[in-house]
Amino acid sequence: MGGNLITVGLQWGDEGKGKIIDVLSEQYDAVVRFQGGANAGHTVHVGDEKFVLHLIPSGILHPGKQCIIANGVVVDPECLAGEIEGLKARGIDVEGRLWVGDRCHVVMPHHKLFDELREAEKGGPDIQTTQRGIGPCYADKAARDGIRFGELIDPVIFRRRLKHVLKARNLVLTRIYDADPIDFDSVYERYSRLGGTLGPFVTDTVGMLHGFSREGRSLLLEGAQGSMLDINFGTYPYVTSSNVCAGGATVGTGLPPSSLGQVLGIAKAYCSRVGGGPFPTEQDNETGELLRERGNEYGSTTGRPRRCGWLDAVALRHAVQINGAGTLALMLLDVLSGLGEIKVCTRYRLEGREIADFPGDTGVLENVEPVYETFRGWSDDLTGAERFEQLPAAAVDYINAVEKITGVPVKMISVGPKRKQLIVRGG
Ligand code: IMP
Repeated sequence: MGGNLITVGLQWGDEGKGKIIDVLSEQYDAVVRFQGGANAGHTVHVGDEKFVLHLIPSGILHPGKQCIIANGVVVDPECLAGEIEGLKARGIDVEGRLWVGDRCHVVMPHHKLFDELREAEKGGPDIQTTQRGIGPCYADKAARDGIRFGELIDPVIFRRRLKHVLKARNLVLTRIYDADPIDFDSVYERYSRLGGTLGPFVTDTVGMLHGFSREGRSLLLEGAQGSMLDINFGTYPYVTSSNVCAGGATVGTGLPPSSLGQVLGIAKAYCSRVGGGPFPTEQDNETGELLRERGNEYGSTTGRPRRCGWLDAVALRHAVQINGAGTLALMLLDVLSGLGEIKVCTRYRLEGREIADFPGDTGVLENVEPVYETFRGWSDDLTGAERFEQLPAAAVDYINAVEKITGVPVKMISVGPKRKQLIVRGG
């Protein structure tokens, strides 16, 4: 097999992956999601139309492309059914092109409820999740208490599994949280109906993907969230519950590492983070506000304002390393136009000591002070630039600096939300 590509976010999510995947989809036969769930939100602009997708790969907007939600994704059937309906209503053909793995775990109402209850608990980390039930669903998966799509679509098996699962969950709800129990009948009725609606889309995606590989069809593997939210390598416990990094593509699809090909890392020209947790380069000031307004940094899933700050090259180098990113896409470069100077954090300082490597201990990260390198800004509007040569010298210097700091070439530069506002170097 050849010609596959894994795309991953290198920061805290919201790097603009949706746009890159949308542009690249044209060159691949199938687009595959491998982790996360409806906590993600990919915004894609096609002409004057705007699409926001949470579960369905944005490849669906390209006629004829196969789109696969592989087994590493946790799928909220209500959300998926809604997205399918929304696409159909806008004339997008879904049947025979969209597939959901029969091993995907189902996000159930109790997962969303536990997500809310846990966030409301005092004393724990203030993660500020998207409340989409992601953490509790992955927790049940690991505890071997989850329900998979193959079970959801079989009313007899689903009844048995739901009975067992709700019995245990209702004990926790009533005895620990002093909350009302979840009613079996209404959940069974609603979810078995959803199982019926979604049944035609459910298949053995492992077999399907291996079949595609044998036929020499190329795959674009679409990562959601960002590496700093990875359950293993991110800022734990302020992370999401899935394997966000490139390695997640193999456990999340059943395709072996040797078959997966190159990794494209996607990073914004600055940083943003939504939700709680350490963010050393955060600019809780006018600069941060300017980046937020210019970059329209509001969550596409929750609408929450994102925290914004300078590029954190310590975190970026860590992400490049664990993902094995061979090329970079640098997004939202246009947002930096008009800033007198631009800063990049190249090291951290803690108690007089400098740290060049990203610390595994989140407690350390909470206390570091960023050490910045300052670059000159540019005033030119970049949104019309079509070629690298049209960029102002200061923007070129900035891109060169990103390459030098990470050791990875910047292959794509995004200068606006539209498909066309993308400079591809050497291609
Ligand atoms: P969860 O994934 O809903 O459990 O949220 C865990 C953390 O990850 C929270 O800080 C969320 O704000 C963050 N998060 C989850 N999904 C995304 C995303 O797609 N973009 C940015 N942040 C996300």
